[in-house]
Amino acid sequence: MHWLPRTRARTALQVTGHEAAAHGGLVTSLVLVPAIVKKVKIPVVAIGGFADGKGFVAALALGAEAVGMGTRLSLTRESPVHEKTKKAQIQAGIDDTLYSDRFDGLWCRVLKTRTAEETIKQGMNLPRAALASVRIANDLKLPWFKLAIGTMMQGPKTMIQLAHMAAAFDKIKKASDEGDLEKGVHLTGQVQGLIDDIPTVTQVINGTIKEAKDIYKRMGALLK
Ligand SMILES: Cc1cc2nc3c(=O)[nH]c(=O)nc-3n(C[C@H](O)[C@H](O)[C@H](O)COP(=O)(O)O)c2cc1C
Repeated sequence: MHWLPRTRARTALQVTGHEAAAHGGLVTSLVLVPAIVKKVKIPVVAIGGFADGKGFVAALALGAEAVGMGTRLSLTRESPVHEKTKKAQIQAGIDDTLYSDRFDGLWCRVLKTRTAEETIKQGMNLPRAALASVRIANDLKLPWFKLAIGTMMQGPKTMIQLAHMAAAFDKIKKASDEGDLEKGVHLTGQVQGLIDDIPTVTQVINGTIKEAKDIYKRMGALLK
């Protein structure tokens, strides 16, 4: 969700903190957002750890013009994430995530499960990654050699990275589409620990704005 209240700018920078699902940076949103706001002249969209009006107001206070929500919107009625996986996330706490660069080759945050722990412990395996790439090429109805040549032309480092991402993609699909957390691994943010319901997207957006306005009023009184 992106909410741009004060600007009509067409270009904005997404700044993703450590708390985020998947590929957040090493620095938390609380420090990263104001650091980047200070450096750029375009609006900043704060991402990573935002799920409600409290986070929204905090992001605005840090100098962002908007927030992006991943985990929160993945836990809505409209979200295609499998119900079993949604339920596991609702039951999980703020520290039930793992952050590692051994899942898909980039620093990545996933739901803490036995399979995720084993996957990270095993590390990446190039032959398995190559097989996954062939499977994905088949799914996309692309000749695998065309995909291989295309990625090879990006250089060996990118090719290996893409192959590892293909292997991770298989596990992500299992968890998010099939609800299989025995074989799959799910992307989720620390903010899952603040979420205990599965509303509609409209309810999330309206609730966020209402809560933010209430907080703004209360803060105005506190700061008088
Ligand atoms: C279910 C799910 C799937 C995601 N898939 C991707 C992805 O394929 N690639 C990516 O770069 N980020 C992905 N993200 C990360 C989001 O784009 C976003 O950066 C992150 O969710 C923001 O942090 P938050 O979860 O704390 O709101 C995903 C997030 C979730 C929750």
